[in-house]
Amino acid sequence: MSSPKHVAVIMDGNGRWGLKKNRTRNYGHSEGVKVVEKIIEAAVENQIKFLTLYAFSTDNWKRPNKEVKFLFHLLEKYIDNQLDKFINKNIKLNIIGNIGKFPKFLKNKLKKAQNLTKNNNKIQINIALNYGSKEEIIQSFTKLIKLSIRINERNVSDNLYTKGIPDPEILIRTGNRFRLSNFLLWQSSYTEIFFIKKLWPDFNKNDFKKIILKFKRMRRNFGGIK
Ligand code: FPP
Repeated sequence: MSSPKHVAVIMDGNGRWGLKKNRTRNYGHSEGVKVVEKIIEAAVENQIKFLTLYAFSTDNWKRPNKEVKFLFHLLEKYIDNQLDKFINKNIKLNIIGNIGKFPKFLKNKLKKAQNLTKNNNKIQINIALNYGSKEEIIQSFTKLIKLSIRINERNVSDNLYTKGIPDPEILIRTGNRFRLSNFLLWQSSYTEIFFIKKLWPDFNKNDFKKIILKFKRMRRNFGGIK
């Protein structure tokens, strides 16, 4: 079977990893960012066209302020460090989620990075920030009703944050938890889900490649018989 076009990832287990190493949860997040870089490389090497990373959910505001602030700091540093690479390597950055409540400096930085990479087409990295799937579905329906547009699958999809992005063929969740945590609920109705034991900072390119290979050997019938 051909390569998947879209892979989505729930990068779970940073906090536990940090504590396991007798360090802080935030240390786990810092190490998690390094893995993000590697997995983007692996996605490019595997001809993936869309990689969606769940970096901050609508529920993550419930974490201690210190951790929320640190995640914002990491994201800012990440954009500062990677923007040139995105530009040079033809990588498009796209944010999904409602970042209205994010600090202004971060919003501006994210906007600028999206603008500068908007015509790139090697791969599109969607970072899900203040993302919640139920909220996303509700805002899609709300728009359709307001504009008196017919409610059908196509129109609902076209008003999600992921408009124009094909549904993911693969969803990976690291961290030995078996749930979707309000991530891409509409989009993953026929997605093959891979729950991985390893915590995110231990996940590597080889793990990613093995999943792609496993997927390629799977038969997908979308409810029919094959
Ligand atoms: C889940 O681990 C991870 C997060 C909520 C944040 C993910 C963020 C990063 C990997 C770094 C920033 C991302 C980018 C794209 C620069 P957890 O804290 O819920 O882990 P736990 O289950 O062990 O508590």
